[in-house]
Amino acid sequence: MGTLASSTLSGRTFHVITFGCQMNKHDSERIVGMLEAEGACCVPTIEESEIVIFMTCCVRAAAETRLKGQVASLKNIPLPAGSDLEQRIVAIGGCIGQNEAEGLIDELPHVGVVFGTFNLSSVPTLLAEALTNDRPAIEVLDEADEFPTCLPTHREVPWSAWLPISIGCNNFCTYCIVPYVRGREKSRTIEDIKAEVESLVEQGVKEITLLGQNVNSYGRDIYGEPRFAELLKVVSDSGIERLRFATSHPKDITEEVIESFSVLPNVMPALHLPVQSGSNRILEKMNRRYTREHYLEIIDKLRRACPDIALSTDVIIGFPGETEKDFQDTYDLIDRVGYNQVFTFIYSPREGTPAAELEQTASHEVIQDRFERLVDLVQRKAYESNQVDIGKRVPVLVEGASKRDDSTLSGKSPKNQTVHAAIPDGVDIEDLLGTIIDVEIDEAKTWYLKGHVI
Ligand code: SAH
Ligand code: SF4
Ligand code: F3S
Repeated sequence: MGTLASSTLSGRTFHVITFGCQMNKHDSERIVGMLEAEGACCVPTIEESEIVIFMTCCVRAAAETRLKGQVASLKNIPLPAGSDLEQRIVAIGGCIGQNEAEGLIDELPHVGVVFGTFNLSSVPTLLAEALTNDRPAIEVLDEADEFPTCLPTHREVPWSAWLPISIGCNNFCTYCIVPYVRGREKSRTIEDIKAEVESLVEQGVKEITLLGQNVNSYGRDIYGEPRFAELLKVVSDSGIERLRFATSHPKDITEEVIESFSVLPNVMPALHLPVQSGSNRILEKMNRRYTREHYLEIIDKLRRACPDIALSTDVIIGFPGETEKDFQDTYDLIDRVGYNQVFTFIYSPREGTPAAELEQTASHEVIQDRFERLVDLVQRKAYESNQVDIGKRVPVLVEGASKRDDSTLSGKSPKNQTVHAAIPDGVDIEDLLGTIIDVEIDEAKTWYLKGHVI
């Protein structure tokens, strides 16, 4: 690491605020790792920090508005006592940093550092520059040369790790800004991933989630063909206790990947398979390159391979031109599949994407009404899906005490459901963190299960 960065950052306090997807969360873990390696100290609140780093998301307008409000309100928070700085250093990275670059400084003049999604490794140097000069330090690159690997990482929790297998996206769904801010798909080699997985297993990590915007096309850029099924087998053979992956694009999921849910014992019975719409007309306008029939066929195959699989999805309501009939097709698909979890979004036009040029035909009220009808259905189906687990013994990976009640533990089932159970008498929750314990399920709610430790 650069000497300028170490000498300037050593002893400084920083706080990271993360918006958006797991890619951003993982990038934040890398930033914490890098800055700690320079001797800086990660603090849990803005008030205690001399440097605030925002890892931003621009997938929908709401995320941008929230960020800008939060950054503006920082001006009122004094520096921690004893700091020799004149003002707090505010850094903006992630997808808005990539998208708006210098433009952010015009809009938010007290921002001192802007960086993009391709140059995380420059963050210590940029912060050091901002600490030594009065002018903003900005670096936004157009594209990564290769997959950035060997950056230090400070994992949010020691028992669970996110592992990016590819970055970027080649799909260009017409509503989506991700390909513009994360670049083209770049995969890591199987050897490289295998080595990292082995090191994580050795460190006692229980759960690995392989990450990519579209894990199913993993490897196409470096091997000429997707090799995700093969990668899953390699990672599974490492002996990791729980293996998950996200996100899967339905157009690229293969029979072998579907089969992995039945043949690889540590691949957990849960899959996030974004459908976006149940209407073929809208799917085509979205450039998703599958039909509702094909999607439903995949669901059938998944349930044949793994009857108890928990499914989740993303849905966009109010894509330009969506009619009541299109919405009914989506509603019907959600009803048929019976997901454990559905993330519902109202379409948000993103400048520079093809869909942003299309005319919106439905009114705000109509879209809101569709959204609410769908949310009601989603909740009903989630509640119904969870009922099948009553009476079952479920291995739960313990994450901590419940936020509402410190006599209750909270953790995750293989199906990724949140499970609550009373902490057994005389047991310290700290001793249970990251361990897997058996819980018998007594009650199933919409968003969690309740049981007792056995
Ligand atoms: N690569 C992943 C995640 C992409 S972003 C995938 O393909 O699923 C996460 C979700 O945000 C998407 O699945 C989509 O449902 C939603 N999304 C993306 N762009 C959007 C937009 N312009 N308006 C509303 N929702 C959007
Ligand atoms: Fe966006 Fe589509 Fe790529 Fe997902 S697959 S990141 S929705 S362009
Ligand atoms: Fe948001 Fe960027 Fe992820 S736009 S969803 S943080 S890739």
